[in-house]
Amino acid sequence: MEKLFVNGGNRLCGEVKIDSAKNALLPILAGCILVEGKVVIKKATAYTDVEAMCDILKSLGAQVNRKKDLLEIDCSSLSACEISHQLASPVRSSIFTLGPLLARLGRAKVAYPGGCDIGLRPIDIHLTALKELGCKIIEKNGYIYGEKLKREKTEVFLSFQSVGATENVIMFCALLPGTTKIFNCAKEPEIVDLANFLNKCGAKIEGAGSDVITVCGVEKLYGCCYQAIPDRIECGTFLIAGAMTGGEILLKNAIASHNSALIEKLKTCGCLIDSGKDFISLTAPKRLESFKEVETSVYPGFPTDLQPQIVAFASVANGCSLVFENVFENRFNYVGELLKMGCDILFKSSICIVRGKNKIFGADVVATDLRGGASLVLASLVAEGYTTINRAEYIDRGYFHIENKLAKLGADIKRI
Ligand code: EPZ
Repeated sequence: MEKLFVNGGNRLCGEVKIDSAKNALLPILAGCILVEGKVVIKKATAYTDVEAMCDILKSLGAQVNRKKDLLEIDCSSLSACEISHQLASPVRSSIFTLGPLLARLGRAKVAYPGGCDIGLRPIDIHLTALKELGCKIIEKNGYIYGEKLKREKTEVFLSFQSVGATENVIMFCALLPGTTKIFNCAKEPEIVDLANFLNKCGAKIEGAGSDVITVCGVEKLYGCCYQAIPDRIECGTFLIAGAMTGGEILLKNAIASHNSALIEKLKTCGCLIDSGKDFISLTAPKRLESFKEVETSVYPGFPTDLQPQIVAFASVANGCSLVFENVFENRFNYVGELLKMGCDILFKSSICIVRGKNKIFGADVVATDLRGGASLVLASLVAEGYTTINRAEYIDRGYFHIENKLAKLGADIKRI
């Protein structure tokens, strides 16, 4: 079990570089299943979820070699189409392999995915779309059995702008003869990044980033060299850390337009924020004002993956804030741990009321999930005294040694 130990109270000042986006790398790794050739991914940050996806690809017979932050993946000769419960259940992104396996091999047997405990996380939208495109799908004994049959429809409508379902369907259609139109797509930057990667391999995908994506199926995809976009959630987490500690930080390899919803909120709370092509700088005010209210929604709205972090921010801002979680039905599990630190938070189903405090206190707390754990780290940076964050392995799923970057900025934090 991983633990972080923090002595709160230091201002964060200085510069850090943002890593590649976890939620872009994961579908791109799944997309490698479609490619008959070697793919080289540069700056492939070794998040534990990325390493889990590499293990999944290896179990299918892919060649996967890591050379520091460079990943070489060759799926030219896959020997299996089955993903075990042991490999699939730790991560949500295992379900992203279903579409590519059906497209490339015509068959798949994939155990149900896992992922953070932030809601039921069904996969009905994924499966409905694949069935409408001519796949036979049977769910039995904890596995999804799939078989690609004759294409039925040329258009599918996703009942919700699901990120994963959009990615799965794009990947299935990349090798499906004919043209497919996908409606009500998710518009996240990670969708655009996946499409850019697949197009670089020879796919014909148009409209990524809008709610209608058109895919013209091709015979074969070829290897390429690719680098994913920066992680907008890591970036947002560090912006909030700088703001909460009254700091002055510069984030390199950061794309401001991917975080416009958060940046607007931070500006209303008194932060001075500047940005350029690949950087964002933040100078925090002495006392943060509350942002009054924020509602999470699909991109380009306020990201649900920054909801726990903005609740930590609200816990030490001046005034009362309302936070509506509209994407996942159970994403406040971490609040109980913030209460142990003296935060003043009420929540009921999807609404959280936060009354800002002048002071919160270090405590022994437990990470409940990836972004909930990040919220505890943020709170510990401003808490009086020491905080131990247990189950920090949750945090490692989406931040690569978060303690190193925070320490570089002046935080008194270490892994114990
Ligand atoms: C992706 O999850 C991200 N994970 C999540 O990030 C992120 O929170 C989420 O998109 C929303 O932005 C990865 O990319 C690996 P969804 P995903 O399908 O694809 C419901 C993090 O912290 N839904 O857009 O699973 C679902 O229950 C993680 O990095 C269905 O009902 O999210 C949820 O309420 C957490 N049926 C909503 O849609 C389905 O078939 C959004 O889910 C699929 C989804």
